[in-house]
Amino acid sequence: MDMSPDRISVLGIAGSLRRESYNRALLRAAVRLAPPDATITTFERLHEIPLYNDDVRQRDGLPDPVAELWGRIAAADAVLVACPEYNFGPAGVLKNAVDWVSRPPAVSPLRRKPVAIMGASTGLFGTARAQLSLRNTLAYLEAYVVPRPEVAVSRAAERFDVRGELTDDRTRELVVELLRALVDWTRRLSGRAAQ
Ligand code: FNR
Repeated sequence: MDMSPDRISVLGIAGSLRRESYNRALLRAAVRLAPPDATITTFERLHEIPLYNDDVRQRDGLPDPVAELWGRIAAADAVLVACPEYNFGPAGVLKNAVDWVSRPPAVSPLRRKPVAIMGASTGLFGTARAQLSLRNTLAYLEAYVVPRPEVAVSRAAERFDVRGELTDDRTRELVVELLRALVDWTRRLSGRAAQ
């Protein structure tokens, strides 16, 4: 992997535990569609993150998978989240992970971190409502959430094949645009020149 300092490192997080998750498939597609000056690696321990308990955090510190997530967000230049929609909000496992890395807010690794949100759902609105809610949470944490394009993949079953490959050209274009916006935004915020 090219670790040159001019490359933008992005941590990808898919907020679903489902083996055949469309959101994980969307994140896999994004890894392959990354701009040449960026590298996306993914966090794969969401299933190990326990339910948030402030007593545990204060008594024992961060559980190991949470400490890994914290460290990897801190080390990355930017974050890319694939956000499933459950009942008009982000899936609980994703919100739970964000809650763990949010305390205390002044030192959260999400503070001043460029973040891009995308999502896929089987419904008609492609996680638009969950993304709005997650955007609000991240605004409270002072993350810099890329405003557009919106990547809200509706009727996901029609846009991925049985192997979980993203087959929809328009969605691929939007993912490319989102990643380009995330990298540009990250460079502007960190004062790093474009490649
Ligand atoms: C859903 N789903 C769903 N879809 C949607 O567009 N809006 C919604 O509010 C909900 N709500 C919802 C609640 C619960 C409990 C489940 C299990 C499902 C459908 C959802 O988009 C679909 O299950 C996706 O496949 C979930 O994402 P992953 O796991 O494929 O990444």
